Amino acid sequence: MIGRLNHVAIVVPDLLAASAVYRDTLGAVVSRPEDLPEHGVTVVFIDLPNARIELLHPLGLNSPVAKFLALHASGGIHHLCYEVEDIIAARDTLVRQGARTVGGREPYTGAHGKPVLFLHPKDFCGTLIELEQV
Ligand code: CO
Repeated sequence: MIGRLNHVAIVVPDLLAASAVYRDTLGAVVSRPEDLPEHGVTVVFIDLPNARIELLHPLGLNSPVAKFLALHASGGIHHLCYEVEDIIAARDTLVRQGARTVGGREPYTGAHGKPVLFLHPKDFCGTLIELEQV
């Protein structure tokens, strides 16, 4: 069902410091910070040959990553995003097997302008999973 790993999202307390680690220490190509107010995050995109890293920092009062940062002050991996061809079919198959979604069962437009859905970490090895229809 799942296809390629699309991205790994890492919540960080300081976007510029984290950008410097990836750019200067690890030698990656790092974008400028981009505010995504509708998603409550500022994001830095790091393109790797086989996937993307997204550095996330809370933006606004109701950021979905604020609580994560409160619990993990130095940051950490927030979610993995897997690509699926048909997000409704994937959801229906997973829900039928007892998987729970986070933030409702209906896919919505994610940070890349494509339909996404989140799956509960308790059902997936302790990892928040984002599905993105590509
Ligand atoms: Co994501």
